[in-house]
Amino acid sequence: MCVEILILTFFLKGGYMTKKNEGSVFDYINDQVNIIDVISSYITLERAGKNHKALCPFHNEKTPSFIVSEEKQLYHCFGCGAAGNAVSFVMHYENLDPIDAVETLAEKYRIDISAFSRSSQSKNTSFDARYYDILKDAAIFFYRNLRLHPDAMAYFQRRGIHLDVIKQFGLGFSSDTWAELLKHLSSKYNALDLEKVGLVIKNKDQERYYDRFRNRVMFPIINPKGKVIGFGGRVLDDSLPKYLNSPETDIFNKSKTLYGLNLAKNSLNEKKQLIIAEGYMDVISLHTHGFKNAVATLGTALTTDHARLMRRYADEIIICYDSDFAGQKAALRSVDVLNGIVDKVKIVVLGENLDPDDYLKKYGAQALKDKIEQAETAMTFKLNHLMHGFNLNDEQQKIEFLSKASLILSEIDNAFEKNFHVERLSHLLGVNKEMIAREVFKEGYNPKTQYGFYDKKKEELIPRIASDKKLFFENQLISHYMHHYKTMTHDQKSMIEQFTFSKELQDVFHFIHDYYQTHDTLNIQTIIENADISVSSHIVKMIHSTETAMDIEHAIANILIMNIDQDITHLTQALKTSENPTDIQKEIQSKRIMKQELTLKMRQRKLKN
Ligand code: CTP
Ligand code: MN
Repeated sequence: MCVEILILTFFLKGGYMTKKNEGSVFDYINDQVNIIDVISSYITLERAGKNHKALCPFHNEKTPSFIVSEEKQLYHCFGCGAAGNAVSFVMHYENLDPIDAVETLAEKYRIDISAFSRSSQSKNTSFDARYYDILKDAAIFFYRNLRLHPDAMAYFQRRGIHLDVIKQFGLGFSSDTWAELLKHLSSKYNALDLEKVGLVIKNKDQERYYDRFRNRVMFPIINPKGKVIGFGGRVLDDSLPKYLNSPETDIFNKSKTLYGLNLAKNSLNEKKQLIIAEGYMDVISLHTHGFKNAVATLGTALTTDHARLMRRYADEIIICYDSDFAGQKAALRSVDVLNGIVDKVKIVVLGENLDPDDYLKKYGAQALKDKIEQAETAMTFKLNHLMHGFNLNDEQQKIEFLSKASLILSEIDNAFEKNFHVERLSHLLGVNKEMIAREVFKEGYNPKTQYGFYDKKKEELIPRIASDKKLFFENQLISHYMHHYKTMTHDQKSMIEQFTFSKELQDVFHFIHDYYQTHDTLNIQTIIENADISVSSHIVKMIHSTETAMDIEHAIANILIMNIDQDITHLTQALKTSENPTDIQKEIQSKRIMKQELTLKMRQRKLKN
């Protein structure tokens, strides 16, 4: 993941700030850990030359092309291109977002990052750690307890939830007694802490504690770092309340938590798409039917925090809510919440008042897959929803609908999308397209174009292209040297060897030059094990790219001319502010002469050949 995205997500989450003199919390963590320790805690690293190597954990391979540089504190896989630092390795390996990766490393290596924390009254981390332990122990207790209660097991079986799924989600059962969990956890924790995490409640006379969850199947709520942060508990029958949830605590905030994200995040490697549903049962059912990218809110409306959380993992969100009135209303709200945070939002309308769990039971996985394929875009969904409220056979209502629809459409930024909906409505309602467009585009309406595009300025690109071109020629020259070392003449070689390459390529050239002093043939494995990561990644790219025939002298002259052009540009700039312009003018003049000579030489050569 590139640095910009890392920084961006960092600000989106907003939990940590940059500390004076020390840069970001990412830099700080990367400085504090040794990448060799970090990576070798996950996979076996072997020393190889100046680097370490391993079989790449991110793709399948038989010979190790995953190289870790202790000196640079970077890793690079020459097979699949994965590359980064300690934090990005943990992100990639554990499918964590940047902040969670930082926190995982901080916990593991006991690095204090509280100074970076945005909340001024920096949280007492040891207190948090105790919370997590209690909740984990409670989850284990419920999980084991489930086996002791055939009625609860039967409930899950009846709902199609089998042992593997029970294990995967860590489902459990709280007995129909008053203080079984309290008794079990009391040996390790004090009752006050159990109350704080919401597992026990004090009874009315304030004398005794009792278990909050009783006679319920239990759904542990697990955060993306794998920590239990709360529970949902469902009755086995029709009694009320159907669900009981942990109260909010320092570590459990419903409006920032998504059920199932701990599992869903691991399924997003190919397609960065999340399905959001409304219930625990929906998530479990979706996962059981192969939709491993499903998550759900916890009985609360979707918040912008949820939206940003999803955005960190996915770039497309499929809303798959209950299709009853309440569910569709909620979908409409969620569309608005996601707007501006997630670009691609689609809505699945299941119909027949079904929820995803019901739908899967009734129609199966393939039918839902098709539904997802055909999911409506946010705008189509909004318009369809609006349309249902009107009788379009009634002329008066049709007009009302159209003016409301135009209002919605005029908010769309993208002119193509606007136009698409204008056409669709015109077709659907049998109304003249221009009329709708006039309403939707308002003063921006132009019957000739309908699209208000501007020509983006291209000037700022020019200097980059010039230096890209130079690098391109230099690359070609080095590549040629590398591929034809054996067959080049002595003169050709020394011509290249005397050449001064751009900074970023000089090391590459030196390595290849030195390499041929001790080796006869190119061997990628030897190179990646011995070269600096940035050098070897360059060389590997050269080896893999197709090589074109080249006239060395011509290439060098080209680069030299480009160098001169660059110098002249700089000098001309300097001339504007200089105190003794004559010196600079002289220099420019001599550069021009050099360029002319070179160009002339090139022409003569061309004529000769
Ligand atoms: N919910 C809640 N408290 C309730 C009812 C619902 O917190 N009293 C939340 C739960 O997170 C629940 C979600 O709202 O998962 C959706 O509610 P519902 O559709 O009623 O539950 P399902 O998950 O569909 O469960 P089931 O299939 O068992 O009815
Ligand atoms: Mn439901």
